[in-house]
Amino acid sequence: MKHRQERIAMLTAYDYLMAGLLDESGVDCVLVGDSVGQVFAGEESTLPVTLDQMIYHARAVRRGLRRALLVVDMPFLTYQISAEEAIRNCGRALRETGAQAVKLEGGYEELARTIRRLVDAGIPVMGHLGLTPQSVHSLGGYRLVGRADAERGRLLAEAERLVEAGCFSIVLEMLPKDLAGAITRKVPIPTIGIGAGPECDGQVLVLPDMLGLNEGFEPGFLKRYAQLAEEVREAVSGYVREVKDGVYPGPEHSYE
Ligand code: KIV
Repeated sequence: MKHRQERIAMLTAYDYLMAGLLDESGVDCVLVGDSVGQVFAGEESTLPVTLDQMIYHARAVRRGLRRALLVVDMPFLTYQISAEEAIRNCGRALRETGAQAVKLEGGYEELARTIRRLVDAGIPVMGHLGLTPQSVHSLGGYRLVGRADAERGRLLAEAERLVEAGCFSIVLEMLPKDLAGAITRKVPIPTIGIGAGPECDGQVLVLPDMLGLNEGFEPGFLKRYAQLAEEVREAVSGYVREVKDGVYPGPEHSYE
């Protein structure tokens, strides 16, 4: 798709029904993101998410997909400790979910060596650079990354390192658009942006954010394509009213 200059549309999903809707609507790639910790479980960060939780959600999502590529996020400390642990955990994620690839955050040298081992073992890896939420504490918060010259140079080098390590694609999160554009032109694999401007080869958003379900979250890059929180409130308060007034169930909803 990169070579055909066809933009890639990716979204996150965490359950079977939504996965089916995404697949039917033409999404190219579905990510079971560890954002599940925040948008599904109400955690403050992605750090508490476990591999068992990712596998549970990815299995549900897999059942909803017919066409789209399925990528599973590997949670914090499932791939950083050693290449052996990474192979065991990423292998488990693919084997137990039916996903086609895993996503790992970071581009440092040791991680690139691990990615090489994973790719050699037959495990396709999507990289993730820029704001890497599993490193929120060392980054000092959820913030734009790559404005300073030193960070910019580091990110360009890390993108090249991930290509050499064998990644098939890289998510670029919260980068200035010119830097994301420079990385996109430099690497032969697709870049998928979130808060990284229009020059990436594709875009990804977190599903509850773009559907307007996560009302408290309003970063500048986010576009809401629906206002589902409003619709849910209206539907549920209509139901509550009708139950209290004895309007539901009506004769058409009752059995003789
Ligand atoms: O966890 C997630 O949903 C992600 C996307 C924001 C890319 O990593």
